[in-house]
Amino acid sequence: MTETGGYVRDLLAGEPGATVTAQGWVKTRRDSKGVTFIQLSDGSSFADLQIVVDAGTVDAEMLSGATTGACLRVTGELVASPGAGQSVELKCASLEVLGTADPATYPLQKKGHTMEFLREIAHLRPRSNTFGAVYRVRSALAFAVHKFFQERGFVYLTAPLITTSDAEGAGAMFGVSTLDLMNPPRIKETGAIDFAEDFFGKRAHLTVSGQLEAEIFALAFTNCYTFGPTFRAENSNTPRHLAEFWMIEPEMAFCDLDGDRALAEAFLKYVVQYALDHCAADLEFFNKRIDSTVLATLENVATSDFAHITYTEAIAILEKAGKSWEFPVRWGVDLQSEHERYLTEETFGKPVIVTDYPKEIKAFYMRLNDDDKTVRAMDVLAPRIGEIIGGSQREERHDVLLSKIRGQGLDESAYWWYLELRKYGTAPHAGFGLGFERLMMYVTGMKNIRDVIPFPRTPGYAEF
Ligand code: 4AD
Ligand code: MG
Repeated sequence: MTETGGYVRDLLAGEPGATVTAQGWVKTRRDSKGVTFIQLSDGSSFADLQIVVDAGTVDAEMLSGATTGACLRVTGELVASPGAGQSVELKCASLEVLGTADPATYPLQKKGHTMEFLREIAHLRPRSNTFGAVYRVRSALAFAVHKFFQERGFVYLTAPLITTSDAEGAGAMFGVSTLDLMNPPRIKETGAIDFAEDFFGKRAHLTVSGQLEAEIFALAFTNCYTFGPTFRAENSNTPRHLAEFWMIEPEMAFCDLDGDRALAEAFLKYVVQYALDHCAADLEFFNKRIDSTVLATLENVATSDFAHITYTEAIAILEKAGKSWEFPVRWGVDLQSEHERYLTEETFGKPVIVTDYPKEIKAFYMRLNDDDKTVRAMDVLAPRIGEIIGGSQREERHDVLLSKIRGQGLDESAYWWYLELRKYGTAPHAGFGLGFERLMMYVTGMKNIRDVIPFPRTPGYAEF
């Protein structure tokens, strides 16, 4: 940044009379009676800076290059703006086009583009109003996540992205290998691929969750959290699933499911309040242009208590609903999106925490209840989104954990260190995972998860 320059955000709050330099990209340009009006954005705020170029102030050929999408450096005086919408504008004294953008081919025009089209130009969509707002909110929320945990003494750990154990035991993992796909080494006797010859000396994958490593840290630092990318090789082509998404996973020793639930609620309230306090202009835009319920929803979440029911109670509510579900309901089935949305949107009208699910439909690491049928699981369901958080109290008893690993047909040798945590100083502990993009959908009202991450990865798609 130049000494005389500054973010558009700061210039907009500046005093008339100052000589300043603004740099950014042209959003729109309008010529009227010899005066050129340029809306300049540098991404620092939702509002653009209006540049006013009087006839003859700058070289005509230079000015002709200042079209939509071009990159400019403009110096001039901040003056009180007669127009509505801004208090100051920049009266141009000199203008330099740093990079032109041919108006005949520049894909990002003022006219409303579809989200699908904008996804195809993910290298340019950050310059649009919608995606400018999305990515500013995303950045602010990421900061709020760290702030929440750091203020509470949680230690941040980075979990490995390449692992040799399946944290969810669900088998939805991407392989990591440097073997020659056409001609892999094979075990003589069986003909199977010999992963002992592979880069890591055994089969490796991209992680589906940092939870198991977070448990290691919780049993040393008491409270910890991860915030990093996770990968799922599920062929889920829905508006709520990504193959690469970011997850926040706190893990707490000396904590049971009630404590876990309380933290999840406090955490969601905190980050929502942070967005309300720090992203007002962007949220107003979402409320006006994307979903007119966003602001009311967020204010409601920040101030009212979440509902809490058990899975068994949830099933009873759904059975009494008198709806013809696409996925029929009975005790033992997993809750589908339609059920989750009914509970949050129609029954309670606010986030709902469902706990104590049947052990058969939840992961091996969840603590078994005394009924021997349910586990100490919790899902936080949010209106519009469905499941936004999944968590549980963990099974801290060595014998019970071992029998669950075996019972689910998992390879216990891959979990040797996870089991040892239960042999050396085990403790009750609990944690959860918040899908960062699901949170983003909730806060912005954006309808498709592909539009709240800079560069989405989904089945058949990994451009950029
Ligand atoms: O419910 P999940 O699978 O739970 C875990 O991974 C646990 N290890 C978390 C823990 O207890 N530490 O995933 C947690 C959250 C979901 O609630 C959802 O918000 C998000 O991660 N999520 C996805 N987001 C986008 N695309 C996907 N394919 C997702 N799968 C899960
Ligand atoms: Mg889940």
